[in-house]
Amino acid sequence: MRAALFYIGAFFVFDCAAVEQMDPASAQRAEINYLLNCAGCHQVNGKGAPGSVPDLSEYLGKFAQHPAARAFLAQAPGASSAPISDQELADVLNWILYTMNAAQLKPDFKPYTAAEVGEYRQTPVVDPGKTRRALLEKVIGGY
Ligand code: HEC
Repeated sequence: MRAALFYIGAFFVFDCAAVEQMDPASAQRAEINYLLNCAGCHQVNGKGAPGSVPDLSEYLGKFAQHPAARAFLAQAPGASSAPISDQELADVLNWILYTMNAAQLKPDFKPYTAAEVGEYRQTPVVDPGKTRRALLEKVIGGY
């Protein structure tokens, strides 16, 4: 099982330089946690399912660098309630950003920390669809 997960993950990640910002052990654990806890809905490549599961590779880099939207990534139900620690969720979010949204990240991008994610997780969003639409409007200017 593990070998298969490594294989699937490696296929998508190895050509991505930005993920080198993470230490290799954390990046590898994050990838496994993504595959075990997120990929079932969001797909291995993050593309999700149009109309029902959001594409994690489309605008999350912009959200993560906008003060009004940064918390939302850790507050989305599947993220905030995943059975992983704050450090692991921080690593998964950073891994998603470095691998799937690298082109959106500015040089001064600040990766999520465990303490920050822990704080966001205390207040999960009640209506993620509505929140996302409002944030898209604010961050990207209508979508
Ligand atoms: C059971 C399916 C499922 C799982 C598992 C899941 N998600 Fe999601 N995720 C969704 C759905 C559906 C939405 C959209 C929620 C909505 O709009 O109601 C979403 C939204 C999100 C969003 C907000 C993106 C946006 O554009 O609105 C992020 C970030 C996210 N998920 C990250 C994760 C992470 C990280 C994990 C794993 C730790 C994960 N999700 C696990 C189904 C899932």
